[in-house]
Amino acid sequence: MEIKIENLNRPLGLDEINPRVSYIVKPEEKNSFQVGYEINVKRGCRVLYESGHVKSSQTVNIELRGLPLKAYTEYTVEVASEDNTGRTICAETVFETGKLNEEMKGSFIGANFDTKVNLTANKEDCFERPIVFQRKFEYRCVPVKARLYVSSIGIHYCRINGEIVGDCFFAPGWTSHKKHLQYYTYDVAKYLKNGENTIEITVSNGWYNRKIEWAEISGQSDYSNNLAVIAYLAVTNEDGEMNEIVTDEKWRYKFNNISLASIFDGEHCCAYETHLTDWPVRILDYDKSVLRGTVSEPVRIIKHLPVQDIFTTPKGETVLDVGQNVVGFPLLKITGKKDACVYMQFAEVLDNDGNFYNANYRSAKSELKYILKDGYQEYHPRTTFYGFRYIRVNEYPGIVSKDNFEICILHSDMECTGYFECDNPLLNRLHNNILWSMRGNYLDIPTDCPQRDERLGWTADAHAFLSTAGYLYNVNAFMKKWLIDLRLDQGKKGAVPVIVPNINISDAYEIREDTVNYSSGWSDAAAVCPYTVYQYYDDKRLLGEQLESMRKWCDFLYKQFMTPKGINTEHHFGDWVALDAQEGDYIGATPLDFIAHAFMLYSIKLTIQAERVLEDPEGAERYEMMYDTTKKMFTDKYCTEEGVVNVPTQTAKILALKFDLVKNKPLQAKYLAEQIIEDDYRLIVGFLGIPYILHVLSENGYKDIAYRMLLRREYPSWLYQVDKGATTIWEHLDGIKEDGSFWSADMNSFNHYAYGSIGSFLYEYLGGIRLNPKYPGFKKFIVRPEPCEAVNSVKMSFKSVYGWIKVKWLRSEGIFKLEVTVPFNTSATIVMPGGDNYKVESGSYSFSEKI
Ligand code: BGC
Repeated sequence: MEIKIENLNRPLGLDEINPRVSYIVKPEEKNSFQVGYEINVKRGCRVLYESGHVKSSQTVNIELRGLPLKAYTEYTVEVASEDNTGRTICAETVFETGKLNEEMKGSFIGANFDTKVNLTANKEDCFERPIVFQRKFEYRCVPVKARLYVSSIGIHYCRINGEIVGDCFFAPGWTSHKKHLQYYTYDVAKYLKNGENTIEITVSNGWYNRKIEWAEISGQSDYSNNLAVIAYLAVTNEDGEMNEIVTDEKWRYKFNNISLASIFDGEHCCAYETHLTDWPVRILDYDKSVLRGTVSEPVRIIKHLPVQDIFTTPKGETVLDVGQNVVGFPLLKITGKKDACVYMQFAEVLDNDGNFYNANYRSAKSELKYILKDGYQEYHPRTTFYGFRYIRVNEYPGIVSKDNFEICILHSDMECTGYFECDNPLLNRLHNNILWSMRGNYLDIPTDCPQRDERLGWTADAHAFLSTAGYLYNVNAFMKKWLIDLRLDQGKKGAVPVIVPNINISDAYEIREDTVNYSSGWSDAAAVCPYTVYQYYDDKRLLGEQLESMRKWCDFLYKQFMTPKGINTEHHFGDWVALDAQEGDYIGATPLDFIAHAFMLYSIKLTIQAERVLEDPEGAERYEMMYDTTKKMFTDKYCTEEGVVNVPTQTAKILALKFDLVKNKPLQAKYLAEQIIEDDYRLIVGFLGIPYILHVLSENGYKDIAYRMLLRREYPSWLYQVDKGATTIWEHLDGIKEDGSFWSADMNSFNHYAYGSIGSFLYEYLGGIRLNPKYPGFKKFIVRPEPCEAVNSVKMSFKSVYGWIKVKWLRSEGIFKLEVTVPFNTSATIVMPGGDNYKVESGSYSFSEKI
């Protein structure tokens, strides 16, 4: 049995008063399900909670209500699950609370800006230098338990007695820190020693950076003066005695050997540089009430890849090729002499002539400089990450060899839940490109791209990709964290920002109605994301926590909508990068007022569904009325007498079908199909139509057209990119044009997952695993493969919150054969391509039919 608490394995520093338990019972016997469970919670040997035997099939998100939880305390959770044969399976796990509702101990401390300026060569330099906060203390016992709780403005890493603590990167993550600031909890007993100990916390700008927060535009040039840290170290010795160290005026600060620590520009480090002088810290009066334990998985090094190739470009430059567009950094393993230099820059692609090309990083310098000490040394950055496939080695002592590099891949450490493979190598590559784009862009928050001077939490990209993300990794906790910021960043009147965490861009655009820059199709993430997460993971609590935000977003839209100006009064991004955009523009041809209206209806509809799930009939009624009024207006304005929309773009028809906006769906689908044929199967849609295009075609009887689009190799299509050597999904379908030239460098990311939101189609239609929306979490699901000519076999699995669902199908010698594994406590409806269907409970099954 596998147990999680609040979707996490053995969480430390949990600030949840009523934690939830979820477990997966492994046996794959036929027809087995849970009839009851028993859960006990203990503190030490003391039993604090006994559920008694509960007759229930629930195994996901069982709430432990009313536990008398104490801060900073470990609890053991014992679970016994009884199945229908009378067999009981038991297991246990632990979790440890954080500060809960207590105030965080210690004070925020910071450096003194004047000292920083005086000590660095120029004022600019001091913005990018990390600050090391340090405290020495005596400890004379053997610790049995030691926890270090740390938060910071800027990102941090800790060292105790010179050793790096833990394996997380970029703590405490990226949040709307003025309203929500996470603290990380570290288990530090093994780093402490009897005698003098030194604790160091290095804080660098990270995402709290004047470039990232676009503060340069708004002139806040002393931004990084405010870096700060708060920490609390609690050490318990053998006698149960507790020693505490907190950040206070006893701490000192100094610089270290890093002279550039910038997410966009990279890291500069000198191996031997030491700074002995330190200064007293200042106590900062920052708000501690915004501190909260982490709710999602931290960023870690997840994989290591070797360098595949080293070559010299036509320009004579030395370039390393990782063979895959990745996010992370290189680990250098090098022997050399003091003062020798390694200087590298990063790029995603080579240009048409085979030269290193990084103009598309815009102002992000993305570089790494390392000055060596004598002898063998290993080094990798800790204050930045790069999005790259190629590394140009500008300076290097001696001959560059593959053995000198290990490429560390970084992303949020979510559980991998998707596996897909078929006998068509192009589709496998497409799947892997989608997977790699997710890896690169799920780094603490969902971003648009990981390389240029952007890397932001764009809300449309996030919701467009979410249904695919949910197959590839378990994104429940990841999304929970991001959605906290979405609702906190929502304007008072309900507008939802286009970027979460909402960086300071109000000066870059004109200030809006609600001082929050919203856009239709972007801000609808407020409704789409919570509802999708609920569907994938049956997380009702998350839906409940977001409901007010969903309502506020709908109310805001409705109010705007009912003004004489209507909804389309502000800037909207529209069907971003669609191919029917006018030359030189990014916004596709689907009219903005149509998009705004359609997405408003979708958001209201999802809100109604959420109200029903959360059993609020009055709420549902209110939004139903809102829906009916605005739907009628939609019909009057955009629908023809035939019951289809009157807007002649692929995206308009797709949205009409997906959002249920038209009376005559079969005819609408026919028109969409006809238009696609007329467009010669070209993919004309942008970010807003892409997630649904193949799904609505298949759903409405045009699967052959969907597959023809999916398998099309000429531009514009997904496989065009694959043929052009893509290893991730590109921002533009033609990031590299047919003649080998690039889209303009100001907007040409090669790791941008929005067009990869088609990944769910591979799982749901080609493979066949589909959610039954009435039974969230895949409690009851559908297996309905829809094979196509170009594929003869698929092997795929998906780990739902109940366990692994497996599907394998093969077409050979006139027989279609399907093998399915259904997890314990779930059931599935199997629909064969020929139409026969079966209902099965847990276990493994085979089906076949003639084709
Ligand atoms: C981003 C997009 C984003 C868009 C807004 C771009 O710069 O990279 O992915 O959604 O702006 O239209």
